Amino acid sequence: MQPVEIVKDVYWVGAIDYNVRHFHGYSYSVHNGTTFNAYLIVGEKIALVDAVHEPFTEEMFSRISAIIDPKRIDYVISNHAEMDHSGAIPSVLERVPNATLVCTKKAVEILKKHYPDGWNIQTVGTGDEIDLGGKTLSFLEAPMLHWPETMFTYYVEEEVLLPNDAFGQHYATESRFADEVDQHTLWREAEKYYANILWPLSRMVQRKIEEVIESGLPIKVIAPSHGLIWRKNPLEIVTRYLEWAKGERTSDKVVITWDTMWNSTTKIARAMAEGIRDAGMTPLLRLIPHSDKSDIIGDLLEAKGVLVGSPTLHNEALPTVAPILADFEALKPAGKKAAAFGSYGWAGGAVKKIEESMKKGKMEVILEPFTVKWVPTDEDLKAAYEYGKTFAEKLNG
Ligand code: FEO
Repeated sequence: MQPVEIVKDVYWVGAIDYNVRHFHGYSYSVHNGTTFNAYLIVGEKIALVDAVHEPFTEEMFSRISAIIDPKRIDYVISNHAEMDHSGAIPSVLERVPNATLVCTKKAVEILKKHYPDGWNIQTVGTGDEIDLGGKTLSFLEAPMLHWPETMFTYYVEEEVLLPNDAFGQHYATESRFADEVDQHTLWREAEKYYANILWPLSRMVQRKIEEVIESGLPIKVIAPSHGLIWRKNPLEIVTRYLEWAKGERTSDKVVITWDTMWNSTTKIARAMAEGIRDAGMTPLLRLIPHSDKSDIIGDLLEAKGVLVGSPTLHNEALPTVAPILADFEALKPAGKKAAAFGSYGWAGGAVKKIEESMKKGKMEVILEPFTVKWVPTDEDLKAAYEYGKTFAEKLNG
């Protein structure tokens, strides 16, 4: 398998997984597969920056072997200890026992819990450098982006930033560069990645990006550990991250997501969608059993607001609605404007549960819940239409 030279003497030696459909257990869907990006920097000394998921070890080695004898590797840089990037490290260090593993102090503790011990380890922190012989690697700690040990590696002479998961996308393709692929899919995957992985860490994202911008670090290429490499206008994805982190990038979209038992809640959702449309905004209707939870979270990132609906069952929201509510609580889409709706028979606990989760997620509930007892009448549907319209107007107010 062939490597790809991304700038002079820096090679992509990663692996492509066209088959994976779930990440982090089953919590995050990856419809387009993914790549595990590892990079080989060849100077007088040689560094491997990050590795691949363990099942792809031989794919990585075949690419490295097309450039050098892997035994010549001097440094293995681990920017992030998560197993999709560190899984092949034990194999590298077994085959090249004299190589030095370079990582943060925190990473040592994590890697030792994952893998057998006994490696040569050099710990680094922000500002530390390694000289490969006229080629300089500089390190920048980036704790909680998205694990406590995470760091970025920067190849000074060619101005290449290797930020591991940050700025990545789950997108398997033969192309290696962001400017070579379908732009809609690329940005959709980048947006979904941010929403599902980094949203709760937005304050840290903002701080780190502002720190990098203020430092004036020139960046010609951003080579993340998943997906495509940003070489044309790489700061576009940095700006996008900053906007997402601040909640400043929103469209005219409103997400309506719900489940239904006997169609009453669906009728309400449809009436609300018409009201939102007539207020000049775009409703995105996501019936939960037909929609992917990670996609809905991706939709939410740039939406101005969200309406969540459920009938009441056993005094609660339907169990099918629970995963999206759990994501609200965990991902904390802070400040996202929201409201709850639903139908009920004799007790209406669903909207209370939905509102609770929204508040735990630091979302801003801007209207009292909209509820209908049993089946909505024409009058109820007119009220739902007006509710949708009012919700949309408040988003723009
Ligand atoms: Fe792609 Fe946090 O691992």
